[in-house]
Amino acid sequence: MSSDNAHSGLDIFSLRGKTALVTGAAGLVGSEISAAMSAAGANIVLVDRLPETEIISRFKKSSHGSDAPALAISTDITNRDSVDSMTAKAVDRFNAIDILVHLAAIDAKFGENAPDGADGRFETFPIDLWKRSIDVNITGTFNVTQSICIQMLKQKSGNIILTGSTYSLVGPNNDLYKPPAPGNPMVKPVDYVATKSFIPNYTRYLATHYAKQGIRVNCITPHGVENENPEWFKENFARMSPMGRMSRASELNGPFIFLASEASSYMTGSTLVVDGGWTAW
Ligand SMILES: NC(=O)c1ccc[n+]([C@@H]2O[C@H](COP(=O)([O-])OP(=O)(O)OC[C@H]3O[C@@H](n4cnc5c(N)ncnc54)[C@H](O)[C@@H]3O)[C@@H](O)[C@H]2O)c1
Repeated sequence: MSSDNAHSGLDIFSLRGKTALVTGAAGLVGSEISAAMSAAGANIVLVDRLPETEIISRFKKSSHGSDAPALAISTDITNRDSVDSMTAKAVDRFNAIDILVHLAAIDAKFGENAPDGADGRFETFPIDLWKRSIDVNITGTFNVTQSICIQMLKQKSGNIILTGSTYSLVGPNNDLYKPPAPGNPMVKPVDYVATKSFIPNYTRYLATHYAKQGIRVNCITPHGVENENPEWFKENFARMSPMGRMSRASELNGPFIFLASEASSYMTGSTLVVDGGWTAW
């Protein structure tokens, strides 16, 4: 049996010398992943629709003021010109895009604070919100991956990680969204479930299309990342989850770095489930 020095030791998780472009970089998961990839040695391109000063200031907070190379590019992923300009600016600054982490998405909240008291129920779900989710979560994913794949083809290498959800794999159990007192129970709306279902098979499409051209494509399906949720929600979650708790955003760092690094060099087209066992029963 031959041993492969390139695949032994912890160095296989290093991102040193790589450039990682992270969409949704100013969000809950994006700020965590950007900081972790920067700590693993990557140059970071932070992409979000927020103003660049805001994106950078959130990155500085999450990366504890690190002065690792980082470039913020304000981009609307639904707008193709904006996305192509993002790709050009990233390449202009760092010469290549080795890793794409695509997180930008909308997951509209329903319930008490929703506009017009919308509760997200299927029967009353507004068509304009349906179209908006298709635009951001599906067309936005298409825009970003097509623009960056064209660049990765020129480089003859690249690594793409898309982000699904448990709702890419299973339907929602709406008991999770029920508050204890009678009131306005929330449900997980159809737009999120429909647009996240697309991610694993789109991953397989790109992975098989580019497998012989040095580009790997995988996706991660997280679930229930804690973010100042109401106590009743955390209790519902704990009761229904095999691990009995929500995820900390930092618990996604390892899986993302694993897929972004040489440690996963024989993986493409896969869905890495990071859900505390939610889909296991
Ligand atoms: N938080 C969770 O519990 C959870 C669970 C499963 C999956 N996910 C997935 O993880 C990813 C990140 O989730 P999050 O919780 O960090 O969300 P978030 O809302 O905190 O961050 C999403 C970011 O995307 C940006 N964005 C939205 N529309 C955009 C557009 N048109 N152009 C550019 N940027 C845009 C937003 O400005 C925001 O900063 C999403 O794909 C989400 O579906 C999250």
